[in-house]
Amino acid sequence: MLDLEDERLKPVELRIGRGFDFDSFNPHGISIYTDEKDLSVYLFVVNHPEDKSQVEIFQFVEEENSIVHLKTIQHKLLHSVNDIVAVGPESFYATNDHFFANKMLKQLEMLLLQPWCTVVYYSPEEVKVVADTFYFANGINISPDNKYVYVADYFDYVIKVMEIQENKVLHHVKSVPVGSLCDNIEVDGDTGDLWMGCHPNGWKIFMYNPEDPPGSEVIKIQNIHSEKPIVTRVYSDNGSVIEGSSVASSYNGKLLIGSVFHKALCCDVK
Ligand SMILES: *[C@@H]1O[C@H](CO)[C@@H](O)[C@H](O)[C@H]1NC(C)=O
Repeated sequence: MLDLEDERLKPVELRIGRGFDFDSFNPHGISIYTDEKDLSVYLFVVNHPEDKSQVEIFQFVEEENSIVHLKTIQHKLLHSVNDIVAVGPESFYATNDHFFANKMLKQLEMLLLQPWCTVVYYSPEEVKVVADTFYFANGINISPDNKYVYVADYFDYVIKVMEIQENKVLHHVKSVPVGSLCDNIEVDGDTGDLWMGCHPNGWKIFMYNPEDPPGSEVIKIQNIHSEKPIVTRVYSDNGSVIEGSSVASSYNGKLLIGSVFHKALCCDVK
């Protein structure tokens, strides 16, 4: 946890309460949900213990800087989860970045590059595929008014804008080209702008070579629902400062950039 209003910018490690299998914990996408009713804060985490795919729900205990494990969710439709966006204390939309769950078939699939990936809606009452034909569904997030879901279709170099229907199914509105391989999406709660951590070179991120590291790119989309969304490259780097940026979050004049396997970078935004 990092308090962006604290000038020291010191990350705090959240304690995970007892009873959770920490040894096999292999986290991937995360999402936070605040329950309007009692202001409880839930942290959803995609977890891949032993190459499996499941979602963990924790409750944040602010006074103790800790999270308490509430629930593990497994389902056959959640077979290769990359990222999630929580829409209720126990419900979420999730992206599957592969069609196959098997490791070898996943590698074959990367070569074939077919649009076989899905977005799944999960709630305790109902689990279903709500969007499909993604090449590699990566980051997912929701608009501040909760009407639209945004999905990064990684190998298609686009952000897909999808409207949430009454039955939770996602209706494709448009695809916004971004010219980069976008990983995670953060949405500014005040402006509705999208911020993405992206990989300018897909080959370098999958075939890591420390002599020739993957670069980083942060892309912002403003007015995404208008006729002419404004796509801006806010940060770019050949890997000499930060390698493999995968997420970018902006708050209060600060831009926080995270990476797949490197470090986190905090920039002042002019
Ligand atoms: C990367 O950028 C840095 C700083 O601009 C520069 O010194 C370096 O030569 C660049 N490296 C490559 C491989 O282009």
